[in-house]
Amino acid sequence: MKVSLIHYLVSYLPLIALVKGQAALLNNVATSPPEIDVPGPATIDGVVCLPPNIAYQQFDPLKPKSVPTYSLPQYDESKVVGPTANFDADVIELLNSLTIEEKAGQMTQIFSAMFLGCDGNINMTATIEWFDKWKIGSVLADPASGGSRFNYNSPQRFANFSNTIQQVATTHGSKIPMIYGLDSVRGAGFVKGAVVLPTAVNTAATFNPKHAYEAGKIAAKDTRAAGVHWTFAPLADVSMEKRWPRNFENFGEDPYLAGEMVYNSVRGVQGNYKMDRSRVAACMKHFIGYTAPINGKDQEPRYIPWNYLMEYAVPSFQRAIDAGVATGMESYSALNGQDVISSSYLLKDLLRDKMGFKGMMVTDFGEINSQYTRHMTAFDAYDATRTTLNYTTVDMSMVGISENFTNATIYLINGKEIPISRIDESVGRILQLKKDLGLFEQPFSDPTLIDTVGSAQDIEVARNTARESIILHQNKDNVLPLSVDEKVLFIGPNMNSTRFMGGAWNVHYDGPSDAEGDAIYDGYGDTIMLGVQQITGKQIGWYNGFNIDGKRVDDYDELVRLARRADKVVIGFGERTTTEVLGDINTLVLPVDQTELVRRITHETSTPTVLVLVQNRPFSLGSIPDWVDGIINAGLPGAYGGLPIAEALYGKYSPNGRQPYTYPKMDYQTKVTYYTGIWNEYDPQFAFGSGFGYNDISYSNITVSSKELRPGCPITVSVSATNNGKMSQLEPVLMYTTQNIRRRYTPEKYRLRSFDKKEIISGATVNFNFTLTAEEMMFWTVELDHILEEGPVTITMNAFNKNNVTLPIYLYTS
Ligand code: BGC
Repeated sequence: MKVSLIHYLVSYLPLIALVKGQAALLNNVATSPPEIDVPGPATIDGVVCLPPNIAYQQFDPLKPKSVPTYSLPQYDESKVVGPTANFDADVIELLNSLTIEEKAGQMTQIFSAMFLGCDGNINMTATIEWFDKWKIGSVLADPASGGSRFNYNSPQRFANFSNTIQQVATTHGSKIPMIYGLDSVRGAGFVKGAVVLPTAVNTAATFNPKHAYEAGKIAAKDTRAAGVHWTFAPLADVSMEKRWPRNFENFGEDPYLAGEMVYNSVRGVQGNYKMDRSRVAACMKHFIGYTAPINGKDQEPRYIPWNYLMEYAVPSFQRAIDAGVATGMESYSALNGQDVISSSYLLKDLLRDKMGFKGMMVTDFGEINSQYTRHMTAFDAYDATRTTLNYTTVDMSMVGISENFTNATIYLINGKEIPISRIDESVGRILQLKKDLGLFEQPFSDPTLIDTVGSAQDIEVARNTARESIILHQNKDNVLPLSVDEKVLFIGPNMNSTRFMGGAWNVHYDGPSDAEGDAIYDGYGDTIMLGVQQITGKQIGWYNGFNIDGKRVDDYDELVRLARRADKVVIGFGERTTTEVLGDINTLVLPVDQTELVRRITHETSTPTVLVLVQNRPFSLGSIPDWVDGIINAGLPGAYGGLPIAEALYGKYSPNGRQPYTYPKMDYQTKVTYYTGIWNEYDPQFAFGSGFGYNDISYSNITVSSKELRPGCPITVSVSATNNGKMSQLEPVLMYTTQNIRRRYTPEKYRLRSFDKKEIISGATVNFNFTLTAEEMMFWTVELDHILEEGPVTITMNAFNKNNVTLPIYLYTS
């Protein structure tokens, strides 16, 4: 018999009538969730506690309808909608009506696993206690996160889960709707059937910010379909260390590029979020400097000079604020020796006073506790809570798994160690956010959104983003594109896998497990080999060669023999899907067996060979670029990246992605960026912004409206690009400046100031126009002054590509 969770709930939970006279905001909160029929699972073979990694079909056979197309109500998005400094009168009224316990509860966010029983169903006793006793205000993570046991949930089951928790929230304790946060970082990757879009690093590689907007919009819709109101995205820090296991989560290394992507991502996620109920709150994370760990490992210390932080790390966060980002997340561990979680310089002076952030600030997972459990910067939970709340403007503690923050906060308020005004500031922000998201009217999921999850319309968006993100780095003797008539030998585990293209923060935080394999995506994605089959119309064989960890699994002699008989060889290099500490590595050096196979094929045969990189981090290629003919960097293009990669290989379009970070040759370059000093070494494998297509594009007529650049007087820079090739070309044009002399501060080799991407059909010439201001040329001094120094400047289009063109101008300070 099918027993829905809601039926279960209704029979066990009498609705508690709201008390008359309570704050007006609570008077109209809906307390009856929509009925969504969700089957089992109660037991497996009579066993109540489910084993780890049970097949998800067994656990949750439901799928979304995935209607081919859909349209949602449109709201005016012409103006930025974002948090404001003042709270609404009804928010203040509610705030004033709350007890100290209720206020502390609002500031507490608890891990969803705490509400789950070992059978994968909600543990009502535990859930009620969290709301009744601790009056918590927020929940995080998917119901599969409990030790990664319960696989991943259909939007129906997820919505039923969040609705059930919401019903407890609105009928117990403070009766204030909870706000649910989830890592929907590129699509709602924790919701079964939701489109897993390309990772941020791929989105950046498109140099087309519309993709960040569209991905954000889809992620928001599918997240809201699951009854979740808040995504912990986008990651706004720029890439500063390539070994970092979360490299794929940044929008590359350039502050301007990342800023444009972050801005559009926030606009896409939030839209007009105070009216539009298919949108969710975005969260700029992780404030700030998390991406530069000293040894490349997750959560290790970062040392970033303050002027460097202002110059390169702050701008992309500022763009999130410009876009009205509703929330932010601080970052793990220490920057310049001081814990971020207790830094008044970072979380008050910089974030609130200088950058003007008015939204709600949450901690990263367990960070308040980490002060006394790991960092040794506090004596106990009381000390840690006191330090954070007194020194920072953090509003919510992503506590995770215990009530100690709530308890400590109550104790500290009662003991007058934390002024109630400080608490009211945070609780006010939380309540205002809940109101802005419509939670006081309709806190439950909108079941009509469920049908749109996994729509073909969204899949096409994902594929188009992937198409624009594929970077062609090498094409000796036009080895690419492949022809359908050629006999191609395909090798590599990631050539026939969806999960290795999807990256982490899908299914589980570190991606699907080995036990789940690709089957977990069950048709919600395509592999490169599926794409090849679709294009060639043939069932083409493929060999692993080595496993995803780079260990030989096939007979290399045999592969060499097969390579000799083939017209071309395509070898895919990839890496295991991981993130955070689980993905820590000591070196970017490739596994020996992987290199060895390429060496043998390229040295023992004369068959032209192409390397396809499907990876988070830029593993050092050593001599491989000299050996192979073609190289494509496909990054992590998402679960639907297979067809776009195959299309690039077979020339169904001309590649047009550009490298969004410096791809190092060796480990010593892992922190090198293209904006290193003008006279310093920049000798990477693939430079920032590099990449080309199958067409020869020539640039001409670079002109400026004035050769004098002065504050307050922007100039226009124009250039023409001609497509001399046979195919149509989407062409990104990247405009850089180099200040050739800058007193006292070595100028950067280049700085990206603007970019644009346009379609140029074969034989056509298209003009690109950019605006350049003197203000963009300002820089931060060690005294943290933002200044301009006069000097000669060179404008360069496409700095690191062979068809670059330049023009000199002169920068004046007045
Ligand atoms: C990560 C965040 C994430 C949070 C919640 C943390 O470990 O650093 O990026 O949003 O977990 O899942």
